[in-house]
Amino acid sequence: MKMWRNMGHLHVELKDVLADWELELLPRGFERIGHVAIVSIPLELHHRLDDVARALLRIKGIRTVALREGIISGRKRRPNIKVIRGDPTTETIHKENGCDFKLDVAKVMFSSGNLYERARLPRLVADGEVVVDLFAGVGQFTIPIAKHAKPRKVYSIEINPIAYGYLLQNVRMNYVGHIVEPLMGDCLEVAPRGVADRVIMGLLHVTHQYLPLALEVLRPTGGIIHYHESVPSKIRFERPVKRLLEVALGRKIRILQKRVVKRYAPGVDHVVVDAKVEPDLA
Ligand SMILES: C[S@@+](CC[C@H](N)C(=O)[O-])C[C@H]1O[C@@H](n2cnc3c(N)ncnc32)[C@H](O)[C@@H]1O
Repeated sequence: MKMWRNMGHLHVELKDVLADWELELLPRGFERIGHVAIVSIPLELHHRLDDVARALLRIKGIRTVALREGIISGRKRRPNIKVIRGDPTTETIHKENGCDFKLDVAKVMFSSGNLYERARLPRLVADGEVVVDLFAGVGQFTIPIAKHAKPRKVYSIEINPIAYGYLLQNVRMNYVGHIVEPLMGDCLEVAPRGVADRVIMGLLHVTHQYLPLALEVLRPTGGIIHYHESVPSKIRFERPVKRLLEVALGRKIRILQKRVVKRYAPGVDHVVVDAKVEPDLA
């Protein structure tokens, strides 16, 4: 996320406008996706929304300021944001790490906090691999992998027709149509079985329900699963590792890496566990 670069900007801009107690409530950072700045402002500070929006619109390249009003809801992960000032257009092109992502920030999710994960994955993909991205979104992992690694093929599955539409556009815009095969629908139904060297499970809340599918999608010779989960910080790695081992049903699974992707909510982390599934000898 570019959040860290944006840290402090609002405080500097508003230090002579807001009272001390208001400055304390002001968030340290904001998200920037393309030309849209997205802020989360506590209710007690909503009387200052206009001042915050004006300060953000003074930043080069920002044309729209939107307020995040809670968390993304539903299986199709629709964001809950409202434009508060500037250009009402929420469709944008977000440039990151040599990739262009077109999306409507009010309609589909794009997490700035996953920036490092989007840069990390392509570095892990070996030449000639077949990758299956089970919850592709607008191509957050698919596009950087297809662009910066040398996979033979990436199957990208997405159930939400709006996100799928952007996935198709992003595949075209980034010239990776010869590598990526987008598939629309529920991954339980449309995911190819027995083909993958690597399966990406970039979903939260119910990811474990799809672990048996991930095993089926891998080649019988095994492969790697990138398993994401939102989990109470106290059991941040314990629960995902337990779930991976439980689903293995006798197959050998080796944990390669565990990392916190971001703080999801107070006391809740978004984590990813990379697991190597050994060959199926059954
Ligand atoms: C949280 S978004 C994540 C996108 C991307 N993987 C990332 O991590 O940035 C999850 C995406 O999975 C899609 N999705 C949810 N359930 C699905 C399913 N059963 N089959 C295919 N896609 C699904 C949602 O529509 C959404 O676009």
